[in-house]
Amino acid sequence: MAGCGSWLFFLTVCVVFLFGANAEIKFTIPVGKFFTYELMRETFQNDFEPLSRIYAGHLYNDPMIFKCNKQNFPDLPEWLRLTQRHPYDNGFLYGTPTSPGKHTIEVYAYNKRSYETTRHILVFKVVAEKMLPYQAEFFIKLREIEKVLPSSVQDEIKQDLQKLWDTEDLEIVNITNALDRGGRVPLPLAGHYEGVFVKVGSEQYFSNCLLRVLTPEHQRQCTAVSRVKIPGGCNFCSVPSNCITWCKTELIDLTKQEPVPPAPTVGLGILEEGGDFNPPESPPSRDYFPDYIVTVIVPLIIAIILCLLLAYIMFGRREGVIQLYHHYTIHGNTDDLRSMAGNRSVTPPLSTLPMFNSRTGERAPPLHSDSPSIPLIAAQHDPYSDTLPR
Ligand SMILES: *[C@@H]1O[C@H](CO)[C@@H](O)[C@H](O)[C@H]1NC(C)=O
Repeated sequence: MAGCGSWLFFLTVCVVFLFGANAEIKFTIPVGKFFTYELMRETFQNDFEPLSRIYAGHLYNDPMIFKCNKQNFPDLPEWLRLTQRHPYDNGFLYGTPTSPGKHTIEVYAYNKRSYETTRHILVFKVVAEKMLPYQAEFFIKLREIEKVLPSSVQDEIKQDLQKLWDTEDLEIVNITNALDRGGRVPLPLAGHYEGVFVKVGSEQYFSNCLLRVLTPEHQRQCTAVSRVKIPGGCNFCSVPSNCITWCKTELIDLTKQEPVPPAPTVGLGILEEGGDFNPPESPPSRDYFPDYIVTVIVPLIIAIILCLLLAYIMFGRREGVIQLYHHYTIHGNTDDLRSMAGNRSVTPPLSTLPMFNSRTGERAPPLHSDSPSIPLIAAQHDPYSDTLPR
């Protein structure tokens, strides 16, 4: 029994290795046709725990995030977009290729519980096809891109539009999030949606209902009234959330579009021969004197005027003279106080002792005079005498 279990294990590992690691899913997409691929979380979950379905009987439901890029490139091809609303939601790769070619897309799934990653490879072969000549774009207000991408919803929308166009021959050409077209992020309230643009195309000319969009009456109504009803007999929406906003409908007639101008002819990449190089003549001489006056002389004159003004205020005017007088009297009073203090036969306080010079062992000479040029700190002859005030 145990041997059988280990054999089963070995076989499963081999199968997972063969199909899980090298799985390459191939698609062929015609140019100008809308393409959707749903990144199923269950498939990737199976890669993370290939044996849990066998042993535990069920798969975990891990949150995971998808990242996609073109192989050996940092990003996706410009026509392809990835959307995933929430780590517990499936992702979608969608878009409309515009030119033929082959793209190898790497899809990485990051498991947010175990931090494991797994990779799938998708190979898109885009084949050339004629564009549908008559196209129309509709705005669906009450939808979000992830809600529209599942094929069942795409079919619902297509069925309504087939009735509006009055033809079975209708293909979805493009589906875009309104946020990618300058729409606003809605309030996080019920009944507010991002909105999606759905473009469809057909070989058949527009129906009478659709042609009403081109009438001047329609344009007048849409600028005047904020909410215009779809004209009677043209309202085919079976599910309320799939209803189109009539005023944002646009018809595109590719048969009437003027042909693209021819591409410019590419030359040899070598300049034509054309004589010798003539250096340009030296520029005419310029008179710098006005600049000199403005930048040097004028500020100098202003500085001199300011100096004279200050001198006049300080020396010529009464306030200045009084200030000078004050200055002299304060000076004289200080001298007086000093001489009075010098006459007192009190030993100067300890704090006035000179500093002991540690390098020469000297002390500053004693104070003999009271002239203001001599420092106020008096010298002491005998450092051991009692210097405390008595
Ligand atoms: C589809 O819509 C996107 C976004 O508006 C745009 O960039 C792209 O060119 C469209 N593709 C086609 C084929 O119309």
